Amino acid sequence: MDLGPGRGKQGLPQENTMPRVFNFSAGPAMLPTEVLESSAKALLDYQGKGFGIAECSHRGKEFDGVVDEAIARCKALLGVGDSHDVLFLQGGASAMFSLIPMNFAAGKPVDYLATGEWGKKAVSCAKEVGAKVNVVATSEASNFNHTPAQAGWKLTPDAGYLHVCSNETVHGHRLVELPRHDTLIVDASSEFMARPHPMERIGLIYGGAQKNLGPSGLVLAVVRKDLYARIPEKGLPKLFNFKAQAEAKSMINTPPTFGIYILLEVFRWLEKQGGLAKMEALNAAKAKLIYDAIDGSGGWYKGTVAEAAQRSHMNVTFTLPSEEKTDAFVKEAAKQGMVALKGYRTVGGIRASIYNAMPLAGCQALAQFMKDFQARNG
Ligand SMILES: Cc1ncc(COP(=O)(O)O)c(C=O)c1O
Repeated sequence: MDLGPGRGKQGLPQENTMPRVFNFSAGPAMLPTEVLESSAKALLDYQGKGFGIAECSHRGKEFDGVVDEAIARCKALLGVGDSHDVLFLQGGASAMFSLIPMNFAAGKPVDYLATGEWGKKAVSCAKEVGAKVNVVATSEASNFNHTPAQAGWKLTPDAGYLHVCSNETVHGHRLVELPRHDTLIVDASSEFMARPHPMERIGLIYGGAQKNLGPSGLVLAVVRKDLYARIPEKGLPKLFNFKAQAEAKSMINTPPTFGIYILLEVFRWLEKQGGLAKMEALNAAKAKLIYDAIDGSGGWYKGTVAEAAQRSHMNVTFTLPSEEKTDAFVKEAAKQGMVALKGYRTVGGIRASIYNAMPLAGCQALAQFMKDFQARNG
């Protein structure tokens, strides 16, 4: 496969001859090459100890150091202090859909924004565990192609919390600004640490790691401690109790140790990039390249999001004039080292996921390919 000048190994060690493609997967997604290198080294031998980081006890000093550093770096990146706990959980973001009402609904009605597949799934999981769910707004009638204006949301006055998905991965739109609420809960799975998060407004923010943060199987959750007062005293297994997990540094049982190590390497990498504000600016510039290619195509490529201001900086979704052209686009792009561009089945077309680890060059290459492909097929 010819990946062109300046691409291919992307800094991998000499003995590694596998080319690195631009991987537009929605998740699990690409990770920074530096993170893969340092994690691979630690997997083989951790700090010269003769064992790898996945081969030592989670109760030992090596892994304890990893957890402490990961918590500290996570807090520093988000700009939070003692008011919040950092949890490393399992079961994917989907498990959180059930655990959140189990921990925090406290018998009150709870409000949900349902403007995409993930917001909708969060609603059904909350109902499954008996929560009294009120949907404040939805766009299901238009295949979730936007978020209705906040002024029209039907909020419950004494709701236990408001749950929102800040970036709808499937449909490619985001909440440009988070709403204000006493208890705001944010599923940030597909944009966690891709922008600064207004933590002073957030009660709980969480996400599956497999998009911006690390491997699947690990959930990062950052919770404001005052919410623990709502946790039921009886009936909630300890493993699922957020306060108990915080007290045990997420080690009530064996945590996904290697996943947490990779997450720590991602935190170190994010700091080296200049932090979350820097990532936000870079991600906006990356997304603009592709949106400009859509907008400059004279309607040949069509964005799937109804309101341009809400277009995601993480998942860029668009369609081509026909199924055949879409298939050809995906196949030809793959031949040029740009993979996993096929859109989600309910939206169709193309979805280019461009999380933190996607370099600017990947978006430049895709935008150029879009122009070339149109010129040949338009
Ligand atoms: C916004 C959002 N929430 C939740 C999930 C579910 O995550 P998991 O597969 O880790 O349960 C996803 C997965 O893509 C997602 O994009």
